Amino acid sequence: MNFAIVGCGFIAKKHAEAIDKIPGAQLVAVCDRVPELMLSYSEQYNAKTYSNVDDMLQDEAIDIVNICTPSGSHANLATLAASYGKHIIVEKPIAMNAEQANTIIQAAEKYNVNLAVVHPNRFRPVAMKLKWILDNNLLGKVSHALCIVNWNRGQAYYDQSPWRGTKEFDGGVLMNQAIHNLDLLLWYLGQPKEVFSMEATRLRDIEAEDVSTGVIRFESGVLATVQASTTVFPKNFEESITIFGEKGTVKIGGTNALYLEHIDIEGIEQEELQQWSEMIKVDPWGTPGHQKIIEDMIEAITSNTTPAVTGKDGENALSLVEAFYTSAAKGEKISMVKDEA
Ligand SMILES: NC(=O)c1ccc[n+]([C@@H]2O[C@H](COP(=O)([O-])OP(=O)(O)OC[C@H]3O[C@@H](n4cnc5c(N)ncnc54)[C@H](O)[C@@H]3O)[C@@H](O)[C@H]2O)c1
Repeated sequence: MNFAIVGCGFIAKKHAEAIDKIPGAQLVAVCDRVPELMLSYSEQYNAKTYSNVDDMLQDEAIDIVNICTPSGSHANLATLAASYGKHIIVEKPIAMNAEQANTIIQAAEKYNVNLAVVHPNRFRPVAMKLKWILDNNLLGKVSHALCIVNWNRGQAYYDQSPWRGTKEFDGGVLMNQAIHNLDLLLWYLGQPKEVFSMEATRLRDIEAEDVSTGVIRFESGVLATVQASTTVFPKNFEESITIFGEKGTVKIGGTNALYLEHIDIEGIEQEELQQWSEMIKVDPWGTPGHQKIIEDMIEAITSNTTPAVTGKDGENALSLVEAFYTSAAKGEKISMVKDEA
């Protein structure tokens, strides 16, 4: 499979490294507006370089295009790539609003290409373990959940590029950082019913929010509290999800949500639960999530199946962020029931 990357900034490196590790996958082309940023890709991977996306997409050798540009440009670029018949791996968030996300999903359907969204945290060993625990109903009826992303992104982080922290191209802590955790909440708990949120821009000089707090009521009746910020002094403090059920309590957490920080399940010996925790500690990151997403796309193409994290999954996480934003702006509870929305 031949890959091309659009946007050769921070995250593109992870895509290139992942492609390089996969047998039978090659990075054949890269595109960026800044020529210097493409140099290392032509030197290291022998990739062709393009300053114009249209020119690159005409290369028939390219099977899959990885969109690694600022979030506000994903919709145009992904739609364009689909129109050239390329399969698409788009970085999170899939786009900046549900309408844009829909445009991408429809283009993928129209041109019969696969679409995957990069929510790599789903592939962390601890995240998969919690999914397995819930799928096997080991916690019984879930009453509520707590989702925390208390991180630090200093002013220098936002100042490195003009798109960061803007509402049009990036969004704030919810859209950029906590969307990974909202995606996990949706994966674990299903369809949300309603959302209430408050947000603020407290310590960073940006347009979007640097602090957000909200509650979600899921269709199942589960309540979840979400608390996210990029203002924590002096560095990342906590990323966690705790699920409280009638027969068990599980917290995945740490500075990054990589560990089983707490686990107590009725009918399972502490010794066995501790073994689960220890096994995760051996290799908490597992195979890098970007590599898993790319491998999964290759598998989806070769076996004619759907990628593990679909365009619809990306749109669902984005719609939840949008509901938080709308609630905060209006000071109202927002319904996410499909017919009423
Ligand atoms: N999944 C993750 O864990 C993760 C982590 C970091 C960033 N991201 C996402 O990746 C995307 C990029 O983030 P980043 O930190 O790499 O940004 P960045 O600013 O470091 O890189 C973006 C690059 O895109 C280029 N670019 C912009 N518009 C272009 C266009 N039309 N054609 C070609 N090149 C263009 C820029 O010149 C820049 O080099 C964002 O959507 C971000 O949310 C995801």
